[in-house]
Amino acid sequence: MVPQSPDPSSSVVLLEGDCLELAGSVPGGPVDLVYLDPPFATGRTHSGRDGRSFQDHWQTPADWVEFIRPRLREVVRLLAPTGAILFHCDWRTCHHARLMLEELLGADCFQNHLVWKYGLGGSSARRFSRKHDDILFFTRSASEWYFDPPMVPATSNRMKGMMKKATDVLDVPSINNMSRERNGWPTQKPLALLELLVGACCPPGGLVLDPMCGSGTTLEAARNLQRRAVGIDRLPAALEVAGRRLDTEVSDRPSSNLRQELEELEAPGRRGERASG
Ligand SMILES: C[S@@+](CC[C@H](N)C(=O)[O-])C[C@H]1O[C@@H](n2cnc3c(N)ncnc32)[C@H](O)[C@@H]1O
Repeated sequence: MVPQSPDPSSSVVLLEGDCLELAGSVPGGPVDLVYLDPPFATGRTHSGRDGRSFQDHWQTPADWVEFIRPRLREVVRLLAPTGAILFHCDWRTCHHARLMLEELLGADCFQNHLVWKYGLGGSSARRFSRKHDDILFFTRSASEWYFDPPMVPATSNRMKGMMKKATDVLDVPSINNMSRERNGWPTQKPLALLELLVGACCPPGGLVLDPMCGSGTTLEAARNLQRRAVGIDRLPAALEVAGRRLDTEVSDRPSSNLRQELEELEAPGRRGERASG
């Protein structure tokens, strides 16, 4: 997807803190899209450039669930009646995430289990090589939500050179180590993937919340597509990268002021087209 030039009226806010407390401070309702890309329970410390890193160690899968569940509950609470959530995970936790989302939103609010198919990484001699992440797409309502089908290049001979609607398998290259896009934050996601997701699932002018925003990929995608965005991360090192990339300062308001940030980002008459399931 070709990024459009940023609309000066669109805005991005960066907040430092635990998304549990920040999201818990807001009454709820204003967010059109939550994109959540939490630690995947890899049991590793993820290290990027210049000592930038975050911890992803859990004694048991149940510990990871215990960490995610209250945070997920708070961010789901913030969804507008026609809002949606995209939960990015992989084979380690996808089954837990789907059950938590079904509990919080209802099984009938499940829309897609997206597969992000990427090329990089080694192969395995012991099992099929793991070459995809999972992105669960749930909506707040079982009957009304926004969806603008993304168009991707067709691959069949018959449609060569044409575009077609994306399927639930998203073939987007991951960022290789030499790429100019790489910003030094470990587990950085490709901008092309986030532009595809934000464009599809958040109305123009709508509000995107990334409660564990890392280096701010979602926020850049939102800004490129004229959506407003709030990013939260508990690590100053992540926000430093996001702030540089977005040319935005981390908000210096007291950490309980997500509510005020959201109110100021609210703009009247911003709702776009809606799809009915
Ligand atoms: C997988 S990374 C996100 C990467 C991001 N999507 C990007 O493209 O750069 C997960 C992030 O969650 C953050 N995080 C972990 N626990 C958090 C919490 N309780 N509140 C806010 N952020 C948290 C970590 O600091 C890390 O930056």
